[in-house]
Amino acid sequence: MIVTTKELFKHAYGKYAVGAYNINNLEQTMGLFRGNIDSKAPFILQISKGARSYADKRMLEAMIRMADEIFPESILAVHLDHGDEETCYECIESGFYSSVMIDASHEPFEQNVEITKKVVDAAHAKGIVVEAELGMLGGVEEHVSVAEADAKLTDPDEAKEFVRLTNVDSLACAIGTSHGAFKFSGGQSIHFNVLDELQKRLPGLPLVMHGSSSVPQEEVARINAAGGDLKGARGVDENQFARAAGLGVTKVNIDTDGRLVWCRVHREMFRDKPEVFDLRKPGTIFMAEYARFIAHKNEKLGSAGKLDEVRAIL
Ligand code: G3H
Ligand code: 13P
Ligand code: ZN
Repeated sequence: MIVTTKELFKHAYGKYAVGAYNINNLEQTMGLFRGNIDSKAPFILQISKGARSYADKRMLEAMIRMADEIFPESILAVHLDHGDEETCYECIESGFYSSVMIDASHEPFEQNVEITKKVVDAAHAKGIVVEAELGMLGGVEEHVSVAEADAKLTDPDEAKEFVRLTNVDSLACAIGTSHGAFKFSGGQSIHFNVLDELQKRLPGLPLVMHGSSSVPQEEVARINAAGGDLKGARGVDENQFARAAGLGVTKVNIDTDGRLVWCRVHREMFRDKPEVFDLRKPGTIFMAEYARFIAHKNEKLGSAGKLDEVRAIL
């Protein structure tokens, strides 16, 4: 069942975080639904602009609608990840997305407010909820690449003003994480002091943590042992999710970790079974491994086991 993130956040706020996972193809979609059902978790399925052009947005929509039928117990929100203004309007008009992210965080404060407010007005008129971003994460996103040194943590006072001016439903904040497989080059971790200040100024407002892959070292080692080159890759400590959830982080974005699962499965298969050329062989393993990964993440996020409680309040 597709619901809005608002309903998911209402149940989760302050207690646990909902996992937001990106998909680009059939194998990720099937593994994602399976993993959430196996761990009895509500979830957010997110689609980036890159995914919309890679798989064709119509193909993604058809796959998700069908997966929702194949797994009728599932409860999820369908969310546009890192949207620009034009893509937000397209998704709002489509009638398929229950949530969009407008990411104008690279613009000066006033322009970010102006663009976000326009998207919020258009989305709310159709019952769709909006996430916006203030501050700047390091790493590479679709339309922006930010050097780690230029990343800017979210200012709590500015955040309060931003939410007042835009009426946005949730806020992605920069608290030290970054996108991709090479985080924390400066050695720091999540800035809990900033989170704490954000929650004090914006009590009850769901906060979103992007760049939350944990880049498991075992996964990195296996990829490197099978011919990969990801030396120095590292991520967020997944044992910190619970503390972040207590401070208002209600949505945790994870994409890179799923790509690492894909990379490990395929590299190991091609190393160990050079005779294989049937794409279904690694595909079958990937779907099962991705489902296992999702179930594990949901345990760490605290969303595992919450499906029936969420169903009861819908
Ligand atoms: O933050 C970006 C997400 O990981 C999506 O990545 O734009 O390459 O699809 P993508
Ligand atoms: P990771 O690169 O850490 O998986 O972050 C994904 C993300 O923030 C998607 O919006
Ligand atoms: Zn992101």
